[in-house]
Amino acid sequence: MQQTAMNETIIDHIKKDHQKTMEHIAELEKRVQGRPSSDNPVFAPMKKELLGHMAAEEKLLYPPLEKEMKQKIQDAIKEHNEVRQHLEHLSAGTMPEDEWARHLQMMKQGIQHHVQEEESEILPAARKMLGEDKIRELGPQFERMEKENK
Ligand SMILES: [Fe+2]
Ligand SMILES: [Fe+2]
Repeated sequence: MQQTAMNETIIDHIKKDHQKTMEHIAELEKRVQGRPSSDNPVFAPMKKELLGHMAAEEKLLYPPLEKEMKQKIQDAIKEHNEVRQHLEHLSAGTMPEDEWARHLQMMKQGIQHHVQEEESEILPAARKMLGEDKIRELGPQFERMEKENK
């Protein structure tokens, strides 16, 4: 019980990840001019973190909410898949720089929209449905799962 009380909740962890991703994207935007893109040192870690984050959400956060908010969760998974496609595309490294930058912008807009929905609807629903003990218990599990799926 003591241990549980000290854990960071899955919700706090997810929000921190979101912030980190937006910082990474801002960093990429700054560097994209005059530099080749997918070999930018910020890109590979950002891709890994995003993939781990989305996989962990799909395994731990979404399933318990699926019954109550089916459409929301289906949309969220669709948006994750769009981000995965963008990441694949951006990884290829074969497109001209301006096109790469345009794709980065498309991915950024998709992520902003997704994060907004997640933070305003999905996370509050998770807190309500799962309860305080459970969201604390899921914090470290989420972190572990994220690492496994990078
Ligand atoms: Fe998320
Ligand atoms: Fe998500």
